[in-house]
Order: sequence, then C-alpha cells, then structure tokens
Amino acid sequence: MKRIGMLTSGGDCQALNAAMRGVVKSITTCTKDVEIYGFLDGYRGLIYSNFRMLTSADFSGILTEGGTILGTSRTPFKTIQDPDENGLNKVEAMKQNYYKLQLDCLVILGGNGTHKTANLLREEGLNVITLPKTIDNDLWGTDMTFGFQSAVDIATQAIDCIHTTASSHGRVFIVEVMGHKVGWLTLNAGMAGGADIILIPEIPYDIDKVVEAIKKRHENGKRFTILAVAEGAISKEDAKLSKKEYKEKMKNYKYPSVSYEVAAKIQEKTGQEVRVTVPGHTQRGGSPCPYDRVFASRLGSEAGKMILEGEYGFMVGYKNREIVRVPLEDVAGKLKAIAPDASIVKEAKLLGISFGD
Ligand code: F6P
Repeated sequence: MKRIGMLTSGGDCQALNAAMRGVVKSITTCTKDVEIYGFLDGYRGLIYSNFRMLTSADFSGILTEGGTILGTSRTPFKTIQDPDENGLNKVEAMKQNYYKLQLDCLVILGGNGTHKTANLLREEGLNVITLPKTIDNDLWGTDMTFGFQSAVDIATQAIDCIHTTASSHGRVFIVEVMGHKVGWLTLNAGMAGGADIILIPEIPYDIDKVVEAIKKRHENGKRFTILAVAEGAISKEDAKLSKKEYKEKMKNYKYPSVSYEVAAKIQEKTGQEVRVTVPGHTQRGGSPCPYDRVFASRLGSEAGKMILEGEYGFMVGYKNREIVRVPLEDVAGKLKAIAPDASIVKEAKLLGISFGD
C-alpha cells in the first residue's frame, strides 16, 4: 500500500491538474493499492490537517482544466519557522500530520518559495518529490517549468492584439508581462509577438536608449512601436541602488507599475502618445496549452514512477530535452535568470530588438 499526500502551493498556473493527473495515473496503471490525500490550499492544508481523500476518479477529466483542484495559497518560507497566531509550530504540525496519516511521501507542486519549504521538510526527514510549476520559468535545475508555455501563449496573444490597434493609431504601446524577478516570459512573448523593444530585469534599461530606439523606428517610417516590459524591469540608475535604498524609493513610487513610469518618460521625451496594457493574471489563467499538457503529464508520470520505486528527495525536472531527477537541496533557494549574454538575447538583438541597454 502506498499513501501519498499531495499539495499545490504558491501562485497557480496552467497544467497543475494535468501534472497531478499524471502522477496518479502512472501509479494506478501499475497498482490499485494506493491512498491519496489531497491537502487543500497549499501548505496550509498540511499544517492544519485540512485534506480530502481522493480517488483516481477525482483525477479524471482534468487534463485540460486550468487552476488546481486542490486550491493553493502562498505560505512564505520566510515565516514558515515562526509560530502561527495561536503559537502553533507550523513545521512540527506538518510533520505530525504526515506521520499521523502514515504517508509514504508528499508530492508538492510549486515554484521557488515552495521548493525552499519542500527542502526543509526533506531535511526534517519527510519523503518529498516536487514538480516545477510557474509561469515565471525561474526555477533552478530545470530548463522549463509547466505553466510557462501557456503563459507565453497568452502574453503573445495580448501583444498580437495590440499590434493591430497600435498600427492603426500610430502609437507607442507597452504590454506589461508577468515574471516576477526574471524576464523569461517577457523575452519569449516579446519575440513571439514581434515586440520592438523588450525590457527585462536581467538587463537594466537606459530610458534614453529606449527613446532612441523609438525615434529610429519613427525615422524609418514606422508608425508605431511595441514594447514588452517585464513587471520586474528596472532602470540602470535603480539597479545601482542597494536593496534598502530601492525599497525606500519604492515607498514613494507614484506609478501603478514600472510600465507606467516607462510610458510617462517616453511621452515626456518624444511627445508621442503612449498606452499601457497589463494582461496581469490572465497569463496564469485558462486551459493549459498542448505543450504544457504533455510536459506536465510527463513530469507527473516520472514522479509516479519514483513513488513506485521509493525514490525521494528530488524535483522532477527537464534538462536537454530529457526528464531528469534533480536533488532538492540543489534546487532550493536558487533562481534561474536570463544571462545578459545568453544566445537568445544576442539573437534577439540581431533581429533588431532593443533591450534599452
Ligand atoms: O510567480 C507567478 C506570478 O504570477 C508572478 O509572475 C507574479 O509576479 C506573481 O505571481 C503575482 O502574484 P499574486 O498572484 O500573488 O499577485
């Protein structure tokens, strides 16, 4: 008999359900001797023993469903070792619930923060397998996370739609793309959507270089310019500030987000009309794209295989087109960012895309 606990933690993304379905299907194809405990709303469910017993029927028909059938929440790693408002030791509570249910392992689906807590639970002696989810694609140890390609599709569609209206009006348009502190989503959607300027956190921008690129397009007879701006994009001046100085500056920040600041400066320096579009959480919503359905199913299938083998302490990742097992201690706490001299950046620049640097 295998007793498996499962939870999804952090911001949701497409293909969480496909991944869980993959885990369960790959196990139940081999044995019916399995119990599945689905913890609700992320680590919160494990801490407060809020779970549902699930059967394979619960995982049927969810391949194409967005969101997560288990619900999710953010339980910051920073405070996971602090007692809750009633003095409960959250880590101990998770361990106790794990042992009380006599679980063989936990399957945890999440991004960066989730992996830090998953690794802590591993260090505390629990059997843990993780699956890499996030639209940000910023998880170390895997070339790709599920959710990313679906989000690229949505952000690209947003840029595609902006193209027609931008060209009709001859305006400058900014599409602000999610991605937290990295630019994978912006770079990929920007290239796919034919953005003229792409601003990502890894390459701090100089607003004068951005303006120069817009003016050059204008001089070349182009009526419009489209910028894909990462929500974490940062100017060269701001990038020089210490963390403390930057935090201080942001306290009095007058714009809703960085795109509005970039827009205001472009308008001021060029006199051109600038509009900002923020697709926001739509990038995390809806049905997973076919790539993510296949990818998440493959990751889930490997996790199921590991459970049957009793192999724990790994994230199931993707390296050089192969599904791989990456030790959790190697993954936790590391960010996968774009190297400013990465070949994709060089190729984009050769295509004439400005990074404002
Ligand atoms: O990590 C996924 C993500 O969508 C980021 O791209 C974004 O910065 C963040 O989550 C938004 O978080 P929330 O859903 O808590 O607003």
